Amino acid sequence: MTRVLVVYDSRTGNTEKMAGAVADGARKVDGADVVVLEVDKAKMSDLTGADAIIIGSPTYYGNMSGKMKSFIDRSNAIHGKLKGKVGGAFTSSGDTACGAETTILSILEAMLIHGMIVQGRNDNKHYGPTAVESPNKEEVESCKELGERVARLATALKKGT
Ligand SMILES: Cc1cc2nc3c(=O)[nH]c(=O)nc-3n(C[C@H](O)[C@H](O)[C@H](O)COP(=O)(O)O)c2cc1C
Repeated sequence: MTRVLVVYDSRTGNTEKMAGAVADGARKVDGADVVVLEVDKAKMSDLTGADAIIIGSPTYYGNMSGKMKSFIDRSNAIHGKLKGKVGGAFTSSGDTACGAETTILSILEAMLIHGMIVQGRNDNKHYGPTAVESPNKEEVESCKELGERVARLATALKKGT
C-alpha cells in the first residue's frame, strides 16, 4: 500500500477543488491509499505516516498562505523524518503570471530541504498544476495527472526498497 497525503489550504474553495482532483488522480494507482486533509486538520504524524505528500495552497502575495507556511514551519519538529518521501505542489491564483509559480516553488523548496523527492514536468506546468481561481477542465486534468504521477513514483520507490 502506498499512502498518499494531500494537504491543502483554501479560503474560497478553489484550491480545495484542485485537491480533490489531485486525490482522484492518485486513486487511479493500484494500492494507493489517499487521504485529503485541510491544513487545520493535518498533523505532523500525517506527514510522517505518508509515502507521498502533495501540498496545495492559494497564492498569497506570490507565496503560500500564512497557514500553510506555519504548518510547514511546524514540520521542523519532524525534520529528517520526511527524507525520501515523494512530494508535489499545486496552487490557485487570481491571474496568470501573478505569483503561482513562485508559490509552488516555495512549497517544493521546503520539500527539498526535508530531503524529499520532487519530479518536474518537461512539457508544461513544469513545477506543478496552477489554476486561475476555480480550476477549469484542463487545470483539473493537470491536477489529476500530478496525483497519479506522484502516487506511481512513490509506489515504484517502495517496490524498489
Ligand atoms: C491575502 C491574499 C493575497 C493574494 N495574493 C495573490 C497574488 O499575489 N497573486 C494572485 O494571482 N492572486 C492572489 N490572491 C488571489 C487568490 O490566490 C485566489 O483568489 C485563489 O483562487 C484563492 O484560492 P482559494 O479559493 O483556495 O482560497 C490573493 C488573495 C488573498 C486573499
